[in-house]
Amino acid sequence: MFAALGRRLSFIFGAAMLAGLGRNRFYQYMQGTGIFVRFARDFAEYKDARWVTSQWANATASAEDPGPTKLSIAEYGEGRPPVPDDLDATIRRQKDELYFPLIDELTQSFDIRSIVEVGSGAGDDLIRLANTYRHARITGVDFARPVREYPTNAVFKEGYARDLIESGLLNGDMLVAWGTFCWCTPYELSLYAKAIKERSFRVLLIVEPIRGAFEPLRYNHSMHVKDQQWGHNYKAAFPEFEVYRFQKSNFSGNRHWMIALTKR
Ligand SMILES: C[S@@+](CC[C@H](N)C(=O)[O-])C[C@H]1O[C@@H](n2cnc3c(N)ncnc32)[C@H](O)[C@@H]1O
Repeated sequence: MFAALGRRLSFIFGAAMLAGLGRNRFYQYMQGTGIFVRFARDFAEYKDARWVTSQWANATASAEDPGPTKLSIAEYGEGRPPVPDDLDATIRRQKDELYFPLIDELTQSFDIRSIVEVGSGAGDDLIRLANTYRHARITGVDFARPVREYPTNAVFKEGYARDLIESGLLNGDMLVAWGTFCWCTPYELSLYAKAIKERSFRVLLIVEPIRGAFEPLRYNHSMHVKDQQWGHNYKAAFPEFEVYRFQKSNFSGNRHWMIALTKR
């Protein structure tokens, strides 16, 4: 009887928290360590709390996955055509006004002669990097080949980036990734971090979509943000690197944040 009463009370308490915090903040809160987290998690087990329950199920199903996860393969792998880079004008603007200028600054300040793009998709950014940095070695990696011809100073490697980094087939001065690491689980990211540490990367530039209430520098661990995607605290994930720049786009539309890390 007491157990049933306890469950009912935690449901009421959880529902009140959900109403008070809103969906995203509630979901974020329940992954933390606060004193009421247990109630929030109990609430997430109820099948009627549909959004929370389905997200929680995605998170717990993939948390220990070394990757690439079944979900990211379903989205991007196995012969699927690469994602077109030019779908969204607001993304294009963030690339033109924030991302490429930051790459420029980093290449000059840190004497970058080789760049690896993890998750090069259709290949637009790979081509732009190769055309801009004619004397640098530019390497793109993705599950699928780019759809366009790329300049001769660019190389494309097809496959799973972590395997290639671990085996030493993928290396460079700077690693860039736009919208790629959010598809990694926390465990998978820790394996990436280990592999990256062994190679000669001196600069990392990671860009991710802004999702819900997740704030990358606020926590020292990763959080599941939505469906297949995770929010990571890259500062904590790469302790050999320090934050050079953290920047949040304030353009309207499909917004991203970017973090540049440099080797200590
Ligand atoms: C959101 S898309 C971004 C594509 C491109 N960077 C852009 O800005 O348009 C993410 C890309 O990362 C690729 N990807 C995700 N995880 C990867 C991994 N572990 N190894 C190689 N490619 C990966 C996907 O196939 C997809 O093309």
